[in-house]
Amino acid sequence: MTDVELAKKHGETLLKERITTIQKPFSYEETAYHLPISFALTGTAVHDRQAAADVFAKTGNNPIVASECLLAESTAVSGKEPDPYTGFISDTVIRKLGYSLVDGSILGLALVVGTPRSAGSAAAVCRELQEKYMLTFLAGPVIPRLSGAGVKLGLEYRLIPLGSTPFHGIHFVDIIARVAMMFGGVTPGDTQRLLTYAAERAKAIVIVFPGLTDEEIALVDGMRVLGFPILSLGEYEGGTWISATPEDVVRLGMEQKGIKVNVTAIPIPMGCSPAFEGKSIRKEEMYVEFGGGRSPAFELLRMRSPGEITDGQVTVIGPEIDAMKEGSANPLGIIIEVAGKTMKKDYEPVLERRIHNFVNYGEGSWHVAQRDLIWVRLSKEAVAKGVKIEHIGKLLASKFRMDFPNLLDAVSVTLITDAAKVLEAKKTADQVYDERDARIKGMHDSDVNLYYSCTLCQTFAPNHVCIITPERLALCGAISWLDGKIAYEMSPSGANQPVEKGAVINAQTGEYEGINRFVKKASHGEIERCSLYSVMEVPMTCCGCFEAIALMLPEVNGIMVVNREFKGITPSGMTFSTLAGTIGGGAQTPGFAGISKNYILSDKFLQGDGGIERLVWMPSQIKDELKARLEPKLAERGLTGFFEKIGDETTATTIEDLMVFLERVGHPALAMKPLV
Ligand code: SF4
Ligand code: NI
Repeated sequence: MTDVELAKKHGETLLKERITTIQKPFSYEETAYHLPISFALTGTAVHDRQAAADVFAKTGNNPIVASECLLAESTAVSGKEPDPYTGFISDTVIRKLGYSLVDGSILGLALVVGTPRSAGSAAAVCRELQEKYMLTFLAGPVIPRLSGAGVKLGLEYRLIPLGSTPFHGIHFVDIIARVAMMFGGVTPGDTQRLLTYAAERAKAIVIVFPGLTDEEIALVDGMRVLGFPILSLGEYEGGTWISATPEDVVRLGMEQKGIKVNVTAIPIPMGCSPAFEGKSIRKEEMYVEFGGGRSPAFELLRMRSPGEITDGQVTVIGPEIDAMKEGSANPLGIIIEVAGKTMKKDYEPVLERRIHNFVNYGEGSWHVAQRDLIWVRLSKEAVAKGVKIEHIGKLLASKFRMDFPNLLDAVSVTLITDAAKVLEAKKTADQVYDERDARIKGMHDSDVNLYYSCTLCQTFAPNHVCIITPERLALCGAISWLDGKIAYEMSPSGANQPVEKGAVINAQTGEYEGINRFVKKASHGEIERCSLYSVMEVPMTCCGCFEAIALMLPEVNGIMVVNREFKGITPSGMTFSTLAGTIGGGAQTPGFAGISKNYILSDKFLQGDGGIERLVWMPSQIKDELKARLEPKLAERGLTGFFEKIGDETTATTIEDLMVFLERVGHPALAMKPLV
């Protein structure tokens, strides 16, 4: 038995001594927050011994700070640990996680450290965490134990192997420190707000297996300051750690943080959880595939009247899995029929897009794209465990009922694997897609009086409000006007509310009285005004999960866009992650706006700032992604040839080079009204 209090005291003394032995300067790449914990607590950028010692003293010899500095130094000395260890997690990865932290697919965060006596019990604890929608980080010998037992690790499985020692658990804390600064608007140095934020908003728990050193005990115990319950699986006594068994530890931890979860098991021979959503099934791992250009495939969700379908009915038309050759591509039609008193035809496409999520929830099933572009794979492992085509149908039927209990009374699924029948049914599907496109295409912001708000991200950015219009997708790229409308109809007191536009203040910049009123109230009085189509004066607030940033470059009288995936330096002199670090947290920053990538295609993009002709630079990756859709739009607007005038990292990486480039191509922004 280890006495936690004694070990902790000893550990703290050791840490204090070790801080003075730091030799080498250190820093992490791919973050704008230096050593995030030290930075969040004190506002100081720590990169060497002197700063480390200062910050350590300033925080009252905080063991978390000491551990952070020591680990950063040892990483600088010996380099990043080899795979599978992730080491320090980049800002980009955290921002990508942003949306799942608020949409309910991640309910909380867990850190698991130590040396489990049996691999089996560790695997069971981790599986329970996955099934209960927790994002789990691992540090120390628990990692080789799990991988030795065949447990798949990685962000895509929501089991993230941080590093080879429990000390690497510090990266769990530095993530939470960054979430607080990125999304929560916590100012670096505002210790009190950081601690309150971590305790109240970060639903984080720590699970400890035996075998920690005294220093590691001091580190783990230090995490209690942030309000994380420490749950111990044996060997430790005293202190305020909570004793638990592998069977009850997850439940106890989640209860401590008030995390409620409702998981009903679906009776199919594979696991089913959002934890598996991000995984991939590689060619070597797949048993069969469907679509993806290799065979005809499509999916379609349609509304029926209640009498027409039998709830839970799953029909397979054509060969089952045992009649398919390993490694082959097969035809597939997924037809879902739903009925419900409040269901409407308008909801069909929104529900249809959920097929993608649900199929990916299956541990051994994978899905990409939509409509007749889908590509689906089943893994060898799943098929060996008895998964059949029929089970995909069961999974879909159950998930639709579970996730839309108020909307749907009956769901039935038909899976067609017979080639001729797939082609026949696809004709009908194509007609439905065309009708839907025609309906949505004509939608303009001016056609409706109601826009929709979204305040989901207030979980992390307490004053942030998104206003979503037909021509302006939300900055996270995940919620359209129609999604907002449907979400409101399905849950009238939820995070999406109708917003009456009200009287026009400025039609060009998209400023309306009703929107201002709504934003003021929803931002708790913080934001007085908000323009929909302008980056310049009173842009929409940013939470942190924007797909891209639009920002002014006054030197060239234009506006540039940079997407989250772009790692290089932009003509603003900053990288995406540095820029992202200066906005966000629910603040309004004139000259900057968080946007979705698709918004660039909208007629309303930059309308208040002179239109898309203001766009002077964006990374080639996003240009390639949008090209096929953007060029015809530009042509429609009489801007043929404009696409080539937009700079990118191959033509300019500095503002000077950009100026030269823009002058050479005769970019229209140079002749426009001055931005500032
Ligand atoms: Fe967050 Fe806005 Fe997306 Fe809602 S719409 S999830 S508030 S970014
Ligand atoms: Ni957000």
